[in-house]
Amino acid sequence: MAVMSQLAFEDSGRGSPVVLFVHAFPFDRRMWRRQIDALARHDVRTIAVDLAGFGASADLPPRRSVDEHADDVAQVLEACGVDRAIAVGLSMGGYVALALARRHPQRLAGLVLADTRASGDTEEAKQGRAVNIERARKQGVAAVFDAMSTAWPPNADRMHIEEMRSLSAAQNPAGVIAALEMMRDRPDATPTLGQIRVPTRVIVGSADGLTPPSLAEIMTRSIPGAQQVIIEGAGHFTNIERSAEFDQVLLDLVRHVRPT
Ligand code: MLT
Repeated sequence: MAVMSQLAFEDSGRGSPVVLFVHAFPFDRRMWRRQIDALARHDVRTIAVDLAGFGASADLPPRRSVDEHADDVAQVLEACGVDRAIAVGLSMGGYVALALARRHPQRLAGLVLADTRASGDTEEAKQGRAVNIERARKQGVAAVFDAMSTAWPPNADRMHIEEMRSLSAAQNPAGVIAALEMMRDRPDATPTLGQIRVPTRVIVGSADGLTPPSLAEIMTRSIPGAQQVIIEGAGHFTNIERSAEFDQVLLDLVRHVRPT
């Protein structure tokens, strides 16, 4: 893993196009380990970042807007000598990937928006952020994860939940609180979806209670040429719950984008 004055990141494998992973809340790059391994087996180079305040970037000043997070990610690509990448963002990572598409469109070769939404927080969601900020302060980050129970279908694999819970418990509360504020204050990205010009896949679990298929549908309809993939029975963390299907979408997009 590389740690720079900027974000920490993991740069694995070789080949083109490069796939760039942006993690969900409240986790870090390690949530992508299945995808990193699967793509390495197919000679695909991957870069997985830890956003400021998370994972090995925990010591960076975490107070950033969604646009600043996107700029951080663009800097990692620059530092790695990568002109363009397929950006893959899940949930909060999708918010950052959409900001990357808006601010650095020349950096994108493709886009995967997984279990995420383009719209900003509703008033009710903003109130939920305040509750979670208190929760993170008083009870720790795992309590914030435990409150995300609608993310999982009732029959979800307990091993997956445990894996995510321990990854959340490893995060720095200050970074998590800053991310809650960032998500609360992020703008509505819906008006900019029509400007996306790269091959895009929108993935969603049919049982995702946090970012349900109706929100994926809005992005699919608004992004020219976007294709939607619904993973039947999966909840919010499709890359963990149903990694084989998720990886297949990535590989298909890599083949589509790969120079011949
Ligand atoms: C995530 O999974 O990254 C979060 O659910 C996003 C959010 O809270 O808006």
